[in-house]
Amino acid sequence: MCGIVGYVGDNNAQDFLISGLKRLEYRGYDSAGIVTINDDGKATLIRAKGKISNLEERLARKKRDDKIGIGHTRWATHGEPSEANAHPHRAGKLYLVHNGIIENYKELKEHLKEHEFKSETDSEVLAALINSFYGDGKYPLANAVVQALKLAKGTYGIAVISEDNPNEIVVARSGSPLVIGIGDGATLIASDASALVGHTKRAIYLNDGEVARVTKNSVDIKTLNAEPVSAKVEEIETNLAAIQKGGYEHFLLKEIMEQPESLMETLRGRVNIKDGTVRLGGPGLSEAELRKIKHLIIVGCGTAYHAGLLAAYYIEKFTPEITVEVVIASEYRYRQAYVPEDSVALIVSQSGETADTLACLREIKKQGVKTIGIVNAIGSTIAREVDGGTYVHVGPEISVASTKAFTSQVIAMVMFGLTIAEAKGVRNTIIRPYVEEIFKLPNEIREVLGAYQNTIKMEAKKYAEYEHAIYLGRDTAYPTAMEGALKLKEVSYIDANAYAFGELKHGPLALIDDRFFVMAFLPKGELYEKAVSNTQEVLARGGHVIAVTNEDSFDLPVENVIKITTSMEIFTPILMNLISQLFAYYVTVAKGLNVDQPRNLAKSVTVE
Ligand code: G6P
Repeated sequence: MCGIVGYVGDNNAQDFLISGLKRLEYRGYDSAGIVTINDDGKATLIRAKGKISNLEERLARKKRDDKIGIGHTRWATHGEPSEANAHPHRAGKLYLVHNGIIENYKELKEHLKEHEFKSETDSEVLAALINSFYGDGKYPLANAVVQALKLAKGTYGIAVISEDNPNEIVVARSGSPLVIGIGDGATLIASDASALVGHTKRAIYLNDGEVARVTKNSVDIKTLNAEPVSAKVEEIETNLAAIQKGGYEHFLLKEIMEQPESLMETLRGRVNIKDGTVRLGGPGLSEAELRKIKHLIIVGCGTAYHAGLLAAYYIEKFTPEITVEVVIASEYRYRQAYVPEDSVALIVSQSGETADTLACLREIKKQGVKTIGIVNAIGSTIAREVDGGTYVHVGPEISVASTKAFTSQVIAMVMFGLTIAEAKGVRNTIIRPYVEEIFKLPNEIREVLGAYQNTIKMEAKKYAEYEHAIYLGRDTAYPTAMEGALKLKEVSYIDANAYAFGELKHGPLALIDDRFFVMAFLPKGELYEKAVSNTQEVLARGGHVIAVTNEDSFDLPVENVIKITTSMEIFTPILMNLISQLFAYYVTVAKGLNVDQPRNLAKSVTVE
């Protein structure tokens, strides 16, 4: 989704802006632009539709040594992707970049007759509105921004510069992240700390309702009501290696393959294998509070939602007297749902910025329910607004399709469930097998990835020609099937849907023909035989089946079988999900598509 960068300092602003925008590319975008201003107040604006490489081609003819500038990658919300709609937007002597949506832009536009609009965007309306207060430049820019923002409804992260004063950037946020990096002889702006890595380790995360005037060596923050804010400088934890491909052709493959290590980070210091217990410091709930919990609501979007579904199956298995409800954030935020007493909400988000998830968090908090974040991005909005939380610590996830975050989100939630179970006095004989498997899981993941990567690479090619796929599973393998289908459709554009095996006869069976392939997940266990019978039903209709199982005796005449050798009994579905991830990756590579940035999608969806 949209990204913002800004620079004011001693060095070349264009260089930082381009490198910063490249770091934000992974978020998904369809156009980009930068503007810099020289000491005499002359601006150089360059914008281009499509990739940042298009912008760089134009930049080659407009190289400047200006020391201040702002830049943007745009993911279209109002108006098509085009050069005119790309940011920065100009109004008078001002330039603005904006993330988010100004909901009342039509109404505001009515009053801005003086400005000749060049784009269809809500962002240009905001630029014009700020300019209407700024006038001839005698009024301080920060004050003009504040006046305008008091009238704007919606969400924003903005950066504004003026030709009158090529020494200051004014930034503000409400519902869309903004980070100020404190550099050496420079101050940097970004919507995501990853753009700052390698330039500085010190950052100030702006809060909603704050406006900052930034120069090369000062940061002055106030609220919209002009109250001064004392800035808290925090350390950026990400390092350069974490945001580079590290020898892999794509981030997606890198992130799939680094799951043994990323899961280890999730577990670090939290598993006590000797006692067979887990310890989570972050949620901040006392034993008594944990004991009281009767209901869990798990909120997320996309992969985070699927992680919640899978975790819920597990939590219900070992925690008595507790109900778990997993909800899609964009739906839940508008439901008139009654939250029972003694509930706790788990807010699951890799980025910690997803607009719908954040809105749910705020709604749930209003009802007085305790909220616990299961978040990856340190210092993100959700991480800061929840009452307590558990960071999954998987490091930056760059590929739009989420992989390593899923695995760690599931386990982090299961660990939270186990802490409730412990507090409620569930016997250690019930809890211990989970803890033991969690402890062994990173290694099992390493083995599965090592053992099956090549097989899947070979097999996946055969399925690149299909247009439709069905993923099937039951019990814990059902959310696994859902996540597998999501992965495939996200990156390969194959129309993939998941069903619970038991639902086959209630409709989906009618679909089976030569245009479909079927991915069937059959983990050993109580429901294995039933899943085998369901697979037979598919075979009887001529379905092309790929079976994924850890049952040695599996012998149905399927087209392909991937037999996983593992000592796991509980978390086999997580291992099966690795197969789905690799499969989606290799199908997409075989189709020659953009693996890390699928069309129409964004990594962090900060608008509704
Ligand atoms: C986007 C991403 C998905 C992700 C979802 C939720 O759609 O493309 O990969 O699962 O948002 O993101 P979050 O950051 O809240 O986990």
